Order: sequence, then C-alpha cells, then structure tokens
Amino acid sequence: MSIIIKTREQIEHIRKSCKLAANALTFIEPYVKPGVDTEYLDNLILQYFKEHSATSATIGYHGYPKASCISPNEVVCHGIPSKSIVLKDGDIVNIDVTPILSGYYGDTSKMFLIGNVSEEAKSLVEVARHCLYLGIQQVRPGAHFGDIGHAISQYAHSKGYSVVYEFCGHGVGIHFHEEPQVEHIGKKGTGPVMHPGMIFTIEPMINQGKPRVVIDSKDGWTARTIDGKLSAQFEHTVLVTETGYEILTLPD
Ligand code: MF3
Ligand code: CO
Ligand code: CO
Repeated sequence: MSIIIKTREQIEHIRKSCKLAANALTFIEPYVKPGVDTEYLDNLILQYFKEHSATSATIGYHGYPKASCISPNEVVCHGIPSKSIVLKDGDIVNIDVTPILSGYYGDTSKMFLIGNVSEEAKSLVEVARHCLYLGIQQVRPGAHFGDIGHAISQYAHSKGYSVVYEFCGHGVGIHFHEEPQVEHIGKKGTGPVMHPGMIFTIEPMINQGKPRVVIDSKDGWTARTIDGKLSAQFEHTVLVTETGYEILTLPD
C-alpha cells in the first residue's frame, strides 16, 4: 500500500463529493440550536445527502450506525447521534460528515457554538480552527507530512492546549481511509513527501486538558477526553497542487 496520486478525472469526482460535504455543514447550521437532539440533526444530514444523490460513508463502516459523527463538549470524536443527546446553551459541538458521491469520498467537520458559550470554550475552538489552517499552510509539493504536525502541535502547545495523538488525518477520496496517516503532532522534515495529486484530510483534535481519550465501553465508538475537559476539532480535505494546496471542502 502507498499514497495514491489521483488522476485529473478522480480529482474532479472527489472535488464534487467534498463540495457536497461542505455544503451539508452549511445546510445543517440553522438547525444546530439549543433543545435539538443529535439524532434529529443526523437524519437531516442523511436526507440532504440523499437529495443530492449521495450516501453516507459512515453508515455500516465497521458497524458504525449513523450518517454523521456529532461530538459535543468532552467528546473528542465519533460521537454517535442519539435522541437522548440534546444540545443545550453553552455547548460546543463538532459535526463531521463524509458523503459518498458517484463512489468518491469527501470528509469535513467543524465546530458549532450553542447559544452563549464561555470565553474559555470559545478560545479552545478558535485555537483548533487556527491549528487546522496552520496545518493546511504546510501543504505543497516537496513538503513532509511531519511539517503539518509540527506546525499544529507547536501552536496548540504554545496556547496551553494538548493535541490528541490517538486519532489522525488520512488519505481520502477513492476510499474512506487511505494512506498516509496524517499526524497532528510531528517533527519538521519527517514522514512521507507530498506530491501533486495527493488528497488527504487534516483534522486536529485539540484538548483543554490531557491529550488522552477513552472509548465508551458500551457503544464502542464515542471517544471522550480522559479528564472530562473540552475538546475541539476542525477538518478539511486538501489536494496537493503543483504550487501548494487547494482546500476541497469549502462550501459554495
Ligand atoms: N469522518 C471521520 C474522520 O474524520 C471518521 C468517522 S468514522 C465513523 O475520519 F465510523 F466513526 F463514523
Ligand atoms: Co477524516
Ligand atoms: Co471526518
């Protein structure tokens, strides 16, 4: 197995799937409000995919039951949407969507703020957003994957936050999770070299407290911070171009 260099035609297909993923997050935004349960949001996302001739890559993925991952507060990632999880004033929540369109995958996520959010939580969210963009700015032919993790971890640590190392970004497009693993902690000049036509996600998870996560023993998916403190994440799918990068998961 190695890192797939996508053809022009594959890139066109993946671009469309990524655009749909990004537009799904724009679509869901007005519904992400206090009092809404996360299963309701998940159903709307699935309906949106279906209306756009797509399916969700997560349904049935290693037994995952839902169309999206919805991860509030101390949930780091892979929160399973549920009727019993109701968003409330002051929450922060990540929604992660992965459509399959004409057989091609797009993957993006972002944070939503529910009502009045504490300054502490807002600052975590803004640092996580900036971490993603610092990572993206490293992308160009000849750069190393370790450059991404270096940029992200240096900034997050300088702000007093920790970086989750038990989950990574990944190649994406033809399959859901392709090589390489895109680590969010790294050393400059290490790891594989980037070439035009590579497509992968960068999706840093930034924690207020300790970096460790614990998987819910009942559902086998929900990953929470080990200390119950907040976590925030943003994710884009990125293409290596001849001169730098293109973010594929930007909405219309
Ligand atoms: N979209 C997630 C990612 O960024 C993966 C979710 S897999 C699931 O890679 F099974 F938990 F849905
Ligand atoms: Co991903
Ligand atoms: Co994702």
